[in-house]
Amino acid sequence: MFSSLDAYKEKMETLIESLSSKLKDTGSVCWQIGNHVKDGSVTPLDYIFFEIFQRHNFILRNRIIWRFNFGLNARKRFSGRYETLLWFTKGSDYKFNLDPVRVPQIYPGKTKRTEQGYKPSGNPKGKNPSDFWEFDAKQSFEGQPVWDFPNVKANHPEKTIHPCQFPNEVADRCILALTEIGDTVLDPFAGVGTVVSCAEARSRVGIGFEFDPRYLMLANERLEQARLGELVVRQSGRLPRRPNGNEKVAQVPQEWLDLG
Ligand SMILES: C[S@@+](CC[C@H](N)C(=O)[O-])C[C@H]1O[C@@H](n2cnc3c(N)ncnc32)[C@H](O)[C@@H]1O
Repeated sequence: MFSSLDAYKEKMETLIESLSSKLKDTGSVCWQIGNHVKDGSVTPLDYIFFEIFQRHNFILRNRIIWRFNFGLNARKRFSGRYETLLWFTKGSDYKFNLDPVRVPQIYPGKTKRTEQGYKPSGNPKGKNPSDFWEFDAKQSFEGQPVWDFPNVKANHPEKTIHPCQFPNEVADRCILALTEIGDTVLDPFAGVGTVVSCAEARSRVGIGFEFDPRYLMLANERLEQARLGELVVRQSGRLPRRPNGNEKVAQVPQEWLDLG
C-alpha cells in the first residue's frame, strides 16, 4: 500500500528504470492502467506513466482503450468501463506481427473497383484490431473465476487502481503481436498469472513476480496447465458476442412495463 500518489509514482519509476535496462532493443512494454479513485475524485494514471516512460526514452506506439462490460456501478458519476494499455517500444527496430492478431472483417463482402473489375477491398486474413479493444465478461471469465475468493477486493493492495484480473485475450494479443516464439515475457505484477501462462501457452518464456501467496498458488496452477496445453485461452480475434434481442436477459421485465 502506498502512502500517497507521489510515493506510488516514485516506486513505479524505480521499477521502470530497472526494467528498461533489462529490455532488449527490439522489445516492448505494455503497461495496463486505470484510474486512481479517492473520495470520488478520479486521477487518470496513464498520463503519469506516459511521462515516466518518456523520461526513460521509450516511444509510445499506441494508447489502447480496453473496454469491458462489467464492474462496479457508480452512483454519483458514470460507471467506469475501460482501462488503458500503453504500448511503448525501446527503439524504432521493434517487433510487430499483425497477422496473428487480425480480427474478422465486419463487411468481408465489400468491394472496390480495380482494372480487373470489382474485387474484395479487405484483407482475407482479417483486419487490424485497432486501438479500441472490447472483451466480453461472460466469455472471458466464465469457467475461470480465479478472483472469486472472499474479501479479495478489500485485501487487494492496489484495489483502487486494478480491481480485477484481466482477460487472457488482452495478454494474448500483446504477446502474439509483439514477441516471437522463444522470447521472454516479464510481468512484474503477475497476479494469478494471466500473462505468464499465456506466454507459456504461446511457447514464450514467462516470468512473473507476485507477493500474495494466494494468487501465486493459482498462478502456478495456471502455468502448469499452460505447460500441459490445458489452459483455457479464448481464441484471439473473435468479435465480442452481441445480444440478438431474443435472450431472456435482453427482454424488458414485466415489472418495468407495468410502471407505464
Ligand atoms: C491487478 S493485479 C494483476 C492481475 C494480473 N494482471 C492477472 O490477470 O492476474 C496486481 C498484482 O500485483 C501484485 N503486486 C503488487 N505489488 C507487488 C510487488 N511489489 N511485488 C510483487 N507483486 C506485487 C498484487 O498482489 C496483485 O496480485
